[in-house]
Amino acid sequence: DTRDEAPARDRPDIPFVGEITHFLHKEAPEALRRAIETAKPDEILCPSFPYRQEMSKKDYAAQMEALQVELVKMSWGLKKAGRRLVVLFEGRDAAGKGGTIERLRENLNPRQANIVALPTPTEREQSQWYFQRYVERLPAAGEIALFDRSWYNRGVVEHVFGFCTPEQRTRFFAQLPGFEKMLVDEGIVLVKLWLSVDRAEQLKRFLDREQDPLKQWKLSWIDVEGLKKWDAYTVAIAETLRWSDTAHAPWTVIRADDKYRARIAAIQTVLGALDYPGKDRDAIGQPDPLICGGIDHIDG
Ligand code: ADP
Ligand code: MLT
Repeated sequence: DTRDEAPARDRPDIPFVGEITHFLHKEAPEALRRAIETAKPDEILCPSFPYRQEMSKKDYAAQMEALQVELVKMSWGLKKAGRRLVVLFEGRDAAGKGGTIERLRENLNPRQANIVALPTPTEREQSQWYFQRYVERLPAAGEIALFDRSWYNRGVVEHVFGFCTPEQRTRFFAQLPGFEKMLVDEGIVLVKLWLSVDRAEQLKRFLDREQDPLKQWKLSWIDVEGLKKWDAYTVAIAETLRWSDTAHAPWTVIRADDKYRARIAAIQTVLGALDYPGKDRDAIGQPDPLICGGIDHIDG
C-alpha cells in the first residue's frame, strides 16, 4: 500500500477516508498542495475572493438570527397564500449546499419544508423521462422544496463521469428552458442558487471531512475521483450556466469560499424572491454584490 501518509489508514471500515490525503500528497498539482500547506487558520484560500477572512462568528450569528425570523414569517405567508416554493442548491462537491440548506430549514416545520436529496437513479428511473423523478418531488400548496442537487446533475456530474450520453445531455438542455418555464407559469416560485468554491477551498473541506468522524459519511467515490476532474467540471459548469440562465429562471451565483457569507447571501436571495405579510426589508438587507451575482460571477 502506497498510502503511507494517510492518517486514517487504520480505519478501513470507513470508505474513502485516507483517499483525500493520498491525493494531496501524491497527485495534487504542486501549487495546490502548497496553497493548502501554507494556509493560515481562518484565512480564505482563494486569492481572488473579495475578503481575506471569514466573516466574524458574531456578525454571522446576529444576521442569521434576523434572517431566521424572516424565514418563519415567509413560510407562514406562503402557507396562508397557498403558494409553492422551489429552491435549487447546486455547486461542486463541498460547496456548502448541505450546510446552507440546514440553516434555511432549521426553524421551519419539517412537514412544510422538505429537503429533496435524491440518490443515484434506479434502473427503473433511468428508463423514465429524465425530469420525472424530480417532478414527483415538487411542492404542493404551502410547501417548500429544497433541492440538494437537482436535474442539473445531467449538465455536470453525469456528463463529467459519463453517466449519461452526449445525446441525453443535449436533449436535457433542449427540454430544460421549457420545463422550467412550465414551473414558473404554474405559479411556482423557482430560485436557482449556484454555490461556487475555489479548488484549494474544496480540497481543504474534503481534508476536514476526512478528519472529522461526524463528517466522514459525506465523502463519496464521486468526491475522490472528482478531485482529478476539476477542469472537466469547470467546462461543464460554464456550459450549464450559459445554457440554463433564462429570463424566467435566472441563476444566482454565490461565491461560497466563506460559508458564513454564502449562507447569508443564499437566504437573502430566497427571501427576496417572494413577498409575505410583515416582510422587513431592512432586516433582510441586500445580498452582498461581491458575494452574489449573475452567471458571470462564477469563479471555480
Ligand atoms: P453528494 O454530492 O450528495 O455527496 P456524490 O458526490 O456522491 O453525492 O454524488 C454526486 C451526484 O452524482 C449525486 O447526486 C449522485 O446521485 C450522482 N450520481 C452518482 N452516481 C451516479 C450514476 N451512476 N448515475 C447518475 N448519477 C449518479
Ligand atoms: C456540499 O457541501 O456542497 C454538499 O453538502 C454535498 C457534498 O459536497 O458532498
